[in-house]
Amino acid sequence: MKQFEIDIMDKLTKVCICKAIPKSVIKKAINDGASTVEEVNKITGSGSGGCSGRRCSIKITELLEEYNNL
Ligand code: FES
Repeated sequence: MKQFEIDIMDKLTKVCICKAIPKSVIKKAINDGASTVEEVNKITGSGSGGCSGRRCSIKITELLEEYNNL
C-alpha cells in the first residue's frame, strides 16, 4: 500500500469507536511523544467513551508497540 493510501485509511479507520477518533489522530499523538495508552487518551480523548476504553485500549497498545518497533 502506498503512503497516501495508508494516510487515507488512517483517517477513515476509527480506533476509538465510542468517540469516533481515527487512527491518524492516535498516530499523531504517538509521534508527538505519547508513550502510554493513558497519555494517548489524555491528548486525544480516546478511552473516555461508553466502553471506558475496553475496545480501543488494545488497539492503542498495538499502535504503541508498532511505533516502538520502527
Ligand atoms: S472505543 Fe474508545 S472508549 Fe470505547
